[in-house]
Amino acid sequence: MTKLDAALSGSFAIGGDLKVNRLGFGAMRITGPGIWGPPTDVEEAKATLRRLPDLNVDFIDTAESYGPYISEELIGEVLAPYAKGTIVATKGGLTRTGPNEWPQLGRPEFLRQGAILSLRRLKIERIDLWQLHRIDAKVPAREQFETIAELQKEGIIRHAGLSQVSVAEIKEAQKYFKVTTVQNLYNFANRESEDVLDYCEQQGIGFIPWFPLAGGDLVEGHAEAKAIVAKHNASPSQIALAWLLKRSPVMLPIPGTGKVKHLEDNVAAAGIQLSDEDFATLDAVARKG
Ligand SMILES: NC(=O)c1ccc[n+]([C@@H]2O[C@H](COP(=O)([O-])OP(=O)(O)OC[C@H]3O[C@@H](n4cnc5c(N)ncnc54)[C@H](OP(=O)(O)O)[C@@H]3O)[C@@H](O)[C@H]2O)c1
Repeated sequence: MTKLDAALSGSFAIGGDLKVNRLGFGAMRITGPGIWGPPTDVEEAKATLRRLPDLNVDFIDTAESYGPYISEELIGEVLAPYAKGTIVATKGGLTRTGPNEWPQLGRPEFLRQGAILSLRRLKIERIDLWQLHRIDAKVPAREQFETIAELQKEGIIRHAGLSQVSVAEIKEAQKYFKVTTVQNLYNFANRESEDVLDYCEQQGIGFIPWFPLAGGDLVEGHAEAKAIVAKHNASPSQIALAWLLKRSPVMLPIPGTGKVKHLEDNVAAAGIQLSDEDFATLDAVARKG
């Protein structure tokens, strides 16, 4: 079995000064169905969080809206005081009205309250990385970006990022604050944010692909891809993660799970080194769709 160590994925310094191992953890799945309420198996979710430091996973992604609040509360309960070097990134800007419902709310007072209450739930004095979950089209973007800049000046947040944005939106936000991460839907099979990834790489912005495990079906359906999976004695989703890690040095995948076994499977992908040839073969498979 591949050694379980997230450090094998290499490291990236968010904002130039927050060094994390590139393979992180997405904490959206330690909640109930529809990302609503507590997880079905709370003890397993807590055990999953407790396992993170053993595996050198030091970058955790959450949001106030996961649960809502449940994901942040569990992280605070299980992991605070945090192991040295652990970075918990959170997000604000979405309200919750029920399972699978995520209305946007970008009014400055809501963003401010969100960041302040995340501090309390995560049991920290400053948020290392706070990301705007969505730019709310009903509120001028300038007001949302100015609020982020103010939260930074006041020391409530250290670094700031965006989620589900275009290159033009990142450029606009950069007029107000230093954009250190961008979190967009991106995986082996879905490459719609390729231009955003390229821009992030050029700017040294961490790119956090969400839904990173997708693409396994695509791998299963192609003989050349299946041969690569077999060669590495891996699963299709581990190969999808290894592909992401090789795609760019600014790539920070955060596979999400509430199960210890699945966490271990995902961290094992950090130790899979794809050759340039394997990478190109997989890329061609993905582009064929
Ligand atoms: N910015 C945004 O708008 C946004 C949107 C969505 C997600 N995110 C973030 O991105 C993270 C990752 O996205 P995601 O959770 O949607 O997608 P994902 O990590 O690609 O997949 C998660 C799903 O795969 C299952 N899974 C995980 N590891 C597995 C394994 N080794 N074997 C089999 N099944 C496995 C999980 O279920 P089990 O719990 O049963 O393992 C869950 O259903 C989230 O946790 C969240 O932090 C951000």
